[in-house]
Amino acid sequence: MLKDVASKLKKANSIVVLTGAGVSTASGIPDFRSSEGLWSEDESREYYMSSDYFYHDPVDFWNKYKTIFQMKLLKDYTPNPVHQFIKELESDKDKVTVITQNVDGLHLAADSSHVIEYHGTLNQASCPECGESYSLDYVMSTETPYCQNCGAVLKPDVLLFGDMITAHDEAEQAIQTADFLLVMGTSLMVTPFNLLPHYAKQEVGMEAALINREPTVKDRLFDYVVHDDLSSSIEKLRSYLSSL
Ligand code: APR
Ligand code: ZN
Repeated sequence: MLKDVASKLKKANSIVVLTGAGVSTASGIPDFRSSEGLWSEDESREYYMSSDYFYHDPVDFWNKYKTIFQMKLLKDYTPNPVHQFIKELESDKDKVTVITQNVDGLHLAADSSHVIEYHGTLNQASCPECGESYSLDYVMSTETPYCQNCGAVLKPDVLLFGDMITAHDEAEQAIQTADFLLVMGTSLMVTPFNLLPHYAKQEVGMEAALINREPTVKDRLFDYVVHDDLSSSIEKLRSYLSSL
């Protein structure tokens, strides 16, 4: 199966790669829904990571947010071979667009050229009142980050449960110009992100591959499905690609 995926990747001119937390676990960042995932450990966390809770108690929100997302460690995380593999795909393609649910910034750190951070990023925060933007350093320099302009409590640039999605149209446009879809390391449980593979298959009509350790609710949508660890899968893909 991975051999077929490799030959499709080789032939494609423009690829869209959809990624989830499974791409970053090899960097030491836990995912959300597998057994040791962030949400599996404590269901209430999803409520605390909501815009309702942010506006209800912004000070406690930040206290929980920094703990749940282990923000202190964020600067220590580095891209792993899966991020690098995706970057390497660019070498003989017209375009490789990464549409990621991850907020860790590791695709940008791996120097991928076209990245859509569909759920935002942990690496900065903005003022909900006046729009001023602030760096991770500033956010981590104080217990509760306040806007230096107007005094409001800052909101992280991560999409919180209940926030409006702003990247969906951009993601669909990127898919329109692609001819192969590769989905990696996601349970595809979250809407509207999990509508993107449907869009690629039904609206644009491209072939699609899914590589994920566990079966997902969307497996049957894909032409190629591989249930395996991503680090070993991309090693096999690399050797197939080099022999093509
Ligand atoms: N190799 C292959 N698959 C892996 C690996 C790995 N090394 N590590 C984890 N996985 C798989 C898990 O089996 C799981 O199915 O990655 C998937 C990750 O799924 P989730 O934990 O649900 O994460 P994700 O799909 O990215 O969640 C989407 O949910 O809560 C929101 O905003 C949050 O962006 C997140 C969104
Ligand atoms: Zn402000």
